[in-house]
Amino acid sequence: MSLYEESPGREWGWLRGIWAGRARVSEDFWRVYLVVVVDGEPVGMQDLIGMNFTKFGTVSTFSWLDPEVRGRGLGKEIRQAVLHLAFEGFGAREAASDAFHDNLASNRVSQTMGYEPNGVDWDTRRGEAAVINRWRLTRERWAAARRDDIELVGVAECRPVLGIGVGFSS
Ligand SMILES: CC(C)(COP(=O)(O)OP(=O)(O)OC[C@H]1O[C@@H](n2cnc3c(N)ncnc32)[C@H](O)[C@@H]1OP(=O)(O)O)[C@@H](O)C(=O)NCCC(=O)NCCS
Repeated sequence: MSLYEESPGREWGWLRGIWAGRARVSEDFWRVYLVVVVDGEPVGMQDLIGMNFTKFGTVSTFSWLDPEVRGRGLGKEIRQAVLHLAFEGFGAREAASDAFHDNLASNRVSQTMGYEPNGVDWDTRRGEAAVINRWRLTRERWAAARRDDIELVGVAECRPVLGIGVGFSS
């Protein structure tokens, strides 16, 4: 087992990945690290990742919540918020999400948001191979269930930094 599979090495590895990701911003790859704040307290993260976004208009998402606040609907809330940013703010065409087959909460969030199954893949988890469920949400399916009570702030200033130009809806 490597240093990065046990605490605190695992957390250090995660932090290093986040810091490195923040420094890597180009048209071909960006990862927006959003903080989840409840009553002024940071309780999690919601990332939006664009790989070749200007070419394909596709994004993927990743979320992590403090175990203390899980299971209260916040996971769905933050996924809806970041999808709003992707589709409404950045004009995305499609969003993807992956989760280990036994990650019931994450798979359920995707399912309830209207994502469709998009096959499976393999990844390692603490050194063990495990099946990943892949999900995809088209713009049409997002639009059919979109919310109108989410406010986006500062998106116009953010888009050019990520290489998102004209031609995308606001
Ligand atoms: C995945 C995660 C962000 C979901 O957030 P959450 O606040 O726990 O989820 P919600 O309370 O919004 O619940 C979403 C759905 O999953 C269901 N659910 C939540 N926890 C569940 C569990 N342990 N078992 C079965 N279903 C569960 C909820 O009932 C809900 O479904 P419903 O709409 O049919 O009622 C959160 O659990 C988490 O941070 N997990 C660890 C990190 C992780 O796995 N990230 C995803 C990696 S891809």
